Amino acid sequence: MKKLKVAVIGGGQFSSSFIHLFQAHPFVEEVALVELNAERRASIAAKFSIKHTFVSLSDLWNSDFNAVAIFTPRWTHAQIALEAIENGRHVYTAVPMGITEGEISQLVQASSKTKLTYFMAETSFYYPAVVFSRRKFADGQMGKFVYGEGEYLHDMSHGFSDAYAANGGDDWKSTASFPPMLYATHSVSMILSVTGAQATSATCIGIKDTAGDGIFDSNISMWKNDQSNQIALFETSDGGVMRIAELRRVGTAPLESTVRMSIFGTEGSFEQQVGYASWATKNTFDIVTDEIGTFSDVENPYSLKPDYVSPNLWDGGFARVHDRSQLPKEFLGLSNGHGGSHQFMVDDFVMDAVGARKAPMNVIDAARFTIPGVLAHQSAQMSGQKLQIPQY
Ligand SMILES: NC(=O)c1ccc[n+]([C@@H]2O[C@H](COP(=O)([O-])OP(=O)(O)OC[C@H]3O[C@@H](n4cnc5c(N)ncnc54)[C@H](O)[C@@H]3O)[C@@H](O)[C@H]2O)c1
Repeated sequence: MKKLKVAVIGGGQFSSSFIHLFQAHPFVEEVALVELNAERRASIAAKFSIKHTFVSLSDLWNSDFNAVAIFTPRWTHAQIALEAIENGRHVYTAVPMGITEGEISQLVQASSKTKLTYFMAETSFYYPAVVFSRRKFADGQMGKFVYGEGEYLHDMSHGFSDAYAANGGDDWKSTASFPPMLYATHSVSMILSVTGAQATSATCIGIKDTAGDGIFDSNISMWKNDQSNQIALFETSDGGVMRIAELRRVGTAPLESTVRMSIFGTEGSFEQQVGYASWATKNTFDIVTDEIGTFSDVENPYSLKPDYVSPNLWDGGFARVHDRSQLPKEFLGLSNGHGGSHQFMVDDFVMDAVGARKAPMNVIDAARFTIPGVLAHQSAQMSGQKLQIPQY
């Protein structure tokens, strides 16, 4: 089997949580770095002992690195992914897939014409609550989908403003106003990855920001966006309804359960709130909080033995519902993150790209998780007008 040579594109905060995993994977020969910022390129290369660095994408296309892992700012992913596919590279990309209908359609078309892997690394797909619900749905215990809620509650003061300020230069406020619904894949995928359906229509209400700190100011925003909180209702192709809340000004604690879901079927339902999860049928009710590992009961998750089922999901543990049997033994003891997702994402991508095993998500899944938010944002700009969503 031909091993991968992976070029990580973007040496910011997030890629540092993945470079060591790509390097440790038995089917990855080498990891390179593409980073525009010279200082950052040098420091990340030194930190991870990266031999090959590139100053631009055009340099990369002349190399023999046959896969890319995109960790650039969220509005740049689609164009880089398209360029990578044109140049015959497998693509792993941070969310979102794209921010316009055109970008998403182009990527579906371009990727479908090749045998290359396209993998949108959606952390929520691997969250314990989602894994739990997917199993209940797949084995019929949930029945037919009725209604689902996905929420991503991330206040600007919880790292968002700081991250934009650190990277965006003097005009960082122009991009910190990134429209909430253009980053809805975390919440949308929690519901649609359980049911396998597509969202067919979107109706979204946006709340105009009132903080007055110059971030959600339509005169400054690259997207002319003045809405910091957006809430949408979607019809789904399986006859149900999904509600998605993307809130960027909200008084919640910065815990992993700020990305959370509830899903109701005709036979059974899963409900999640902060520090709590339950499974109910018409005759039974169980608290399943421990099973999906919402609580933290360890002080230092990095000190855990590899076989420990760590409930501290945010810092990198696994939950009892995670099946780790396919993960490479080289990952044992390495740090993880986002509800245990990081190790699964890297492994699923690499194994798909080398032809060893199909990844659980493909380009169509990426599209059906991304396009609802794009249409919802348009609806919010039109005072909640109901819009039809393209189907993939
Ligand atoms: N749960 C999740 O899935 C999750 C969590 C955090 C971040 N993310 C995503 O990861 C991505 C990266 O986030 P981050 O916080 O590391 O961002 P960042 O702004 O800290 O880093 C981005 C880096 O990309 C570099 N860059 C930009 N354009 C480039 C190009 N054309 N070629 C090479 N380098 C380029 C920048 O110089 C910067 O160093 C974002 O899209 C974000 O949405 C996802």
